[in-house]
Amino acid sequence: MGRRLVNGVEAGAVAADDRGLQYGDGLFETMAARDGRIRAFALHMARLEVGCARLGIPMPAPALLEEECLRVLEDLGTGVIKLVVTRGTGPRGYRPPREPTVTRVVMASALRATAAAGEGIVVRVCEMRLARNARLAGIKHLNRLEQVMACAEWQDPEIAEGLMLATDDRVIGATAANIFLVRHGRLQTPEIRDCGVAGVMRQQVLNVAKTLELPVEIGDVDLSELRAADEIFLTNALTGIRPVIEVRGEGSWPNGEVTQTLRTRLEAVGEPG
Ligand SMILES: Cc1ncc(COP(=O)(O)O)c(C=O)c1O
Repeated sequence: MGRRLVNGVEAGAVAADDRGLQYGDGLFETMAARDGRIRAFALHMARLEVGCARLGIPMPAPALLEEECLRVLEDLGTGVIKLVVTRGTGPRGYRPPREPTVTRVVMASALRATAAAGEGIVVRVCEMRLARNARLAGIKHLNRLEQVMACAEWQDPEIAEGLMLATDDRVIGATAANIFLVRHGRLQTPEIRDCGVAGVMRQQVLNVAKTLELPVEIGDVDLSELRAADEIFLTNALTGIRPVIEVRGEGSWPNGEVTQTLRTRLEAVGEPG
């Protein structure tokens, strides 16, 4: 187990009445670190800030969060940092306290070895659907039961991820990733308007696409468009770009040229590919 800090204190603990535990009343960020440096920290802070504003939780100072993240990373250098920010403790009941004392949890762990994801992964379509609520979309709040239940649907170790659809059958992403399709040299990714998380790696891919002058369409995606895609890939801050070579029961795809170009370009700007 890596180092962890609760409100800056090593071996600290979260109170039983913390609203993060009681109601999932908080937010989190999962960040990649390499050689003592946190990747895309500013983008993670930007998403956390949007989440804090949406939920009305005071945003801790990014400089304090960075200092704590670097502290837990000291021994490890390369790995994963998970940051959790909750509305803290409060009296029984849903009503948020007027002046919350925010809880910060920062922990480091080693990167899990993923089997040659660069060559492509096999995924499936989950039965679990994502509920639609524009006010909760985009942010990385602590309520993740849909993803937990979706991940419980399969045991096959060959299946690396599960695609998730909204209750109206639109493709939104995977349990812990965003999705991109490539069709006729254009990128397509679902709009995050009423469900899904606005991924940091998704943003980085969009930024790189711009520099490559690759046309991008952000809109609704359904399974028939997915089947018609030339290439498919998933994005996540830890795993970067992972080409999808098979969606069980839906079809197979190559680890295509556009996906590989984007991976190379992300590596060139110092991000995991
Ligand atoms: C539901 C969900 N969507 C998308 C993502 C990808 O986000 P990011 O690129 O910030 O890792 C994650 C990351 O864990 C996630 O949990």
